Amino acid sequence: MIRPFRDNAADNNFELKPYLDKRRHLVDQALQRFLNSSPFRDTRLVSAMQYSINAGGKRLRPILCLASAHAVGGLEDDALPAGCALEMIHTYSLIHDDLPAMDDDDLRRGKPTCHRAFNEATAILAGDALLTGAFQILADDALRRDHQQAVWVQAMALIAKAAGHEGMIEGQMRDMAAEGQALSAGQLEELHGLKTGALITASIKTGAVIGGADDGALSSLEAYGRCIGLAFQVTDDILNQTGDPLVMGKAVGTDQIRQKSTYPALMGLPGARRMASDLVDEALRNLAIFDSKADPLRAIARYVIERQR
Ligand code: IPE
Ligand code: IPE
Ligand code: MG
Ligand code: MG
Repeated sequence: MIRPFRDNAADNNFELKPYLDKRRHLVDQALQRFLNSSPFRDTRLVSAMQYSINAGGKRLRPILCLASAHAVGGLEDDALPAGCALEMIHTYSLIHDDLPAMDDDDLRRGKPTCHRAFNEATAILAGDALLTGAFQILADDALRRDHQQAVWVQAMALIAKAAGHEGMIEGQMRDMAAEGQALSAGQLEELHGLKTGALITASIKTGAVIGGADDGALSSLEAYGRCIGLAFQVTDDILNQTGDPLVMGKAVGTDQIRQKSTYPALMGLPGARRMASDLVDEALRNLAIFDSKADPLRAIARYVIERQR
C-alpha cells in the first residue's frame, strides 16, 4: 500500500484499530449515561433514540473530536461530552435521511431503519429529540465549567452553525434538489462539503477549541477537516456503488436508482478514487505543523478512504 507523507511524522507504529475501539467504547458509555438519565427512559420515544444510537455506528465524529483535542495538547476527557453531542446530531441526521420523504431506506447500521422498526412519526420525533438533546449536553457541559466557559459556548456555536441551515441541512436540501440533475464539479463539492463535510469539520474544530488550540493550529485543523470531510463523502459515494451491503449495514446501489449527484457519477470510479486519495494527501499536509500527538488524526485520514463501511 502506498503511504505518502511518511515524513509528516513518525506514525509508522501507530495502531489505529485499538485506538478506535477504545474511544468508541468511551463514547458508547457516555451516550448511555445520557440516555439512561432520562426520566422517561422506558418510553417509546427514548427506546427509538436508544435503538438508533446503539445500532453500531463508527463514532467517527466524536473520535475526531477527541483526537483533535489531543493533537493540540488538550484532554480527551474534556471533549467527550461534545463528542457525544456530535454523535447525537449525526444519528438524528441519519434517521431523518432514511425517511420515506428523503432517501427512503430500510436498512441502517445493519438494522431496520428507525421508521421501519418503530414508525415514521416516532422516527421524526426521535431525531428531533436527539438533536435537542445534543444541545442540552453542550449547554450543561458549558455550565459545569468554572473557567473558560466562553470556550465551550464557542464550541456550541460552531456545532450549531455546521448542523443547521448554513451547513448540513442546506446540504441535505441541495442533495434532494439535485436528484436527477447533473451538477458541476464545483456544485457537487459545495453540496458534499455542506451535507457531510460541515459536521466532520465542526467535530475537529470543536476538539481543537476545547483543547486550547491557537489560531494557527485551528486553521490547519480546519483545512484538514475540509479535506477529510469531502474525502469521506466521496468514499460514501464510492461504497454505495461498490460496497458489500452486509459489511456496510446499509443498502448499496441506491444513489444510482435515485439518480443522486455523486462523484462516481460525475467522474467515474477511478476519478473519484483518485480525488479521495488526493484529498487525504492534502489533509496530511495540513497536519505538518503537528507532532506525534496528531498521529491518530493522520491514521484516521487514511482510514476515511480505506474503510469498507
Ligand atoms: C454515513 O455516515 C452518512 C454520511 C454522512 C456519509 P457514517 O459512515 O459515519 O455512518 P455511521 O455513523 O458509521 O453509521
Ligand atoms: C447522508 O448522506 C448525509 C446526512 C445524513 C447528513 P447519504 O444519504 O449520502 O448517506 P447514506 O449513504 O444514506 O449513509
Ligand atoms: Mg441522503
Ligand atoms: Mg441516505
